[in-house]
Amino acid sequence: MSNKILVISGSPVKNGNTATLVNWFTAGARAKGAPVEIINTAFLKYKVNGCISCRRCQKIAAYECVINDAAKPILAKMNDADVIVMATPLYFYGPSAQLKLVMDRMFSLFKWDNKNDTMTTRLTGKTFVLIASAFEDVGLKDLERPFAITADYAGMKFRSLLVPNAGESGEVKKIPGIRTKTIAFGKKLG
Ligand SMILES: Cc1cc2nc3c(=O)[nH]c(=O)nc-3n(C[C@H](O)[C@H](O)[C@H](O)COP(=O)(O)O)c2cc1C
Repeated sequence: MSNKILVISGSPVKNGNTATLVNWFTAGARAKGAPVEIINTAFLKYKVNGCISCRRCQKIAAYECVINDAAKPILAKMNDADVIVMATPLYFYGPSAQLKLVMDRMFSLFKWDNKNDTMTTRLTGKTFVLIASAFEDVGLKDLERPFAITADYAGMKFRSLLVPNAGESGEVKKIPGIRTKTIAFGKKLG
């Protein structure tokens, strides 16, 4: 059985390095028969700027955000996917703000009981994937860390494809072997 894959991209550049890597990854996964949905957080409109820490999600039974905007269906799809891919350019050693503002709303996908010191989430057992590129060969391992720890915390497996020296938007195509490597990565996760 193929994996159901959700790709959440955070690059504001439509045909840039992130988009190229996502397209190659998707081609690989689809070649394995995996259904892949791609959502770009950079072109959506939200009612709030990221998680506003209202904590109302903690008072309801459903694992969903109570704010009814473009992030809500993305979060719902995360509960439903086998593989959640986050794709981002490196922006000052972190993910893009466009991705981070949806990522922080993943708060609603957890339920905490601080009195009993318990946490539950539907994310457990899924695979969390980071695809990231940078101009330099500095910082991608630092970017990877919060994604890897989040996966570990939620009980998800973690995989990553980090592409340093990717140059300016679109130049990732000039790196020898990266297309084949990214397609193979998609096939592995498909
Ligand atoms: C706001 C901004 C911040 C960036 N910060 C870094 C950085 O800290 N280190 C780096 O190597 N590249 C940095 N870059 C370059 C991008 O990470 C890199 O070119 C990436 O591959 C672009 O992906 P895209 O085409 O999807 O936008 C930055 C680019 C922008 C626009």
